[in-house]
Amino acid sequence: MIRSLLHVGMTVPDLEAGRSFYQLFGLESHASGSDLVFRCANREQDQIRLMEGPKKRLSYISLGTDDVGMLTLKTRLERAGVRITETPFRADSGGIWFQDPHGDWVNVQVEQVISSTMPAPPEVNSPGQYRRIGTRACSVESMQKRARPRRLGHLIKFTPDVDRSVAFYTEVLGMKVSDRAHDILAFLRGSSGGDHHILAFAKSTHTGLHHLSFEVGDIDEIEIGAQTLIRAGYEDVFGLGRHVGGSNYFHYIRDPWNSLVEYFWDIDIIPEDDSAWIPLNVSPEELTAVWAAKPAAPGFELNFELPD
Ligand SMILES: [Fe+2]
Repeated sequence: MIRSLLHVGMTVPDLEAGRSFYQLFGLESHASGSDLVFRCANREQDQIRLMEGPKKRLSYISLGTDDVGMLTLKTRLERAGVRITETPFRADSGGIWFQDPHGDWVNVQVEQVISSTMPAPPEVNSPGQYRRIGTRACSVESMQKRARPRRLGHLIKFTPDVDRSVAFYTEVLGMKVSDRAHDILAFLRGSSGGDHHILAFAKSTHTGLHHLSFEVGDIDEIEIGAQTLIRAGYEDVFGLGRHVGGSNYFHYIRDPWNSLVEYFWDIDIIPEDDSAWIPLNVSPEELTAVWAAKPAAPGFELNFELPD
């Protein structure tokens, strides 16, 4: 049923701090009523809605399905005793609204992820697979390159009960487990396959946001983006490195409210027919990194959101 991640809504005490950070990160912003909405360049789809409030909070996630999926979802929500309500927020992006087992808001819309119209990045030359022939990957102008995130790929939410969250998002919302670290960490993909994970859950004492993750064009853009934020004074938390869960290259930077944003590139794609995919169930350390330039900074795994 759930096929995609569309956007997230966050409450923050300072919209301008958000505008400065996410613009430098590479997103474009526009005002929407009293909120601030961020999109990727060359792509007509909201990715982050910032709403002003007393403290930073991941307020909701917005997920996509199709017409048949919406009908099935409504039936399953009813059977599970989950109430469908009006939007609890000022802006209504449409679709249905409900709360997950820990009280976090979920919006589901009949909508697909819109493709980026950004030019494709240069082909990669690997041993035996030389795809870029007679064309430079880099030029003097490459030094002016900026990170241009293509799409919001996934987020990791904290939960006090990973098993309970996984049960709800798989059994009621139709998502699938790609890999997990017992009851500490679980990566979920959409029902029709695609990215290794569009939503993941990490154990904490309460709910909150661990990180938002945006896909960029290549490994250069991961570091160009990360180094731009670090030079501006934002905290370098973890990277450059390559994950085991999802196989993506990563670099995490702390946002103005102590959550993280990640640039990623080259994530595993799982087909709808997933008969050949065998999920891992290993330690969190084994899922985290094949290698990294340096260990994660202290607090990488912590939940800095205050409980309600
Ligand atoms: Fe990530």
